[in-house]
Amino acid sequence: MYFRPGLHKEAGLSFSPIKAIVSPRPIGWISSCGKDGSVNLAPYSYFNAISELPPMVMFSSAPSGNAQHKDSLRNVIETEEFVVNIVSAALGDAMNITSADLAYGQNEFTAAGLEMADCNTVSVPRVAAAPAALECKLWKVIELPKAETGGAGVMVIGTITGIHIADETVKDGKIDVTSYQPLARLGYMDYARISDVFAMARPDVK
Ligand SMILES: Cc1cc2nc3c(=O)[nH]c(=O)nc-3n(C[C@H](O)[C@H](O)[C@H](O)COP(=O)(O)O)c2cc1C
Repeated sequence: MYFRPGLHKEAGLSFSPIKAIVSPRPIGWISSCGKDGSVNLAPYSYFNAISELPPMVMFSSAPSGNAQHKDSLRNVIETEEFVVNIVSAALGDAMNITSADLAYGQNEFTAAGLEMADCNTVSVPRVAAAPAALECKLWKVIELPKAETGGAGVMVIGTITGIHIADETVKDGKIDVTSYQPLARLGYMDYARISDVFAMARPDVK
């Protein structure tokens, strides 16, 4: 099967398969604040770490269907700060609740029954129960080119300025991801949890 982006239906596929092909994807559970002080929390799986030095992450906001930006993007543009919270398998249901399209200013921490915790380098709260959280300052907002079929997403790139790790996830000086099983996004409505880890030595590492 071969087709050009946007023409999956002609190829017999009900949904665009791109998210299923590029999977698993980590979920950046983005907390942010507006300049009015309102607090927001929402999951973004067009998310990843993009550099170790400097330590940087990105997430990308899809066009929201109206002229308005999604709340996370609006907030990051307004206050130039955000936090990436890591989603454990146990927090999956809460993460899903926070993807609801609530009115601007409504706090998804409250909607999902999540406790907020303070950060050190940003004024944005983090998810207290998250196994890890990355405090970030905005570096650049990049408007992606408009697709032939419609709107354009916007990519946010931030620099990590502080790192929180739940102590109980650290074993022998390393993070043991199996202790919290990070949730990954697959295509459609599907998810995976990381529970099986193996190591491979690199051929060029002495
Ligand atoms: C697991 C998951 C991943 C998501 N990833 C994205 C994404 O990468 N980009 C995006 O625009 N929306 C994504 N969404 C949808 C947003 O979370 C949703 O539109 C949310 O209402 C945005 O909230 P906000 O307006 O408070 O930022 C995702 C939803 C889920 C459940």
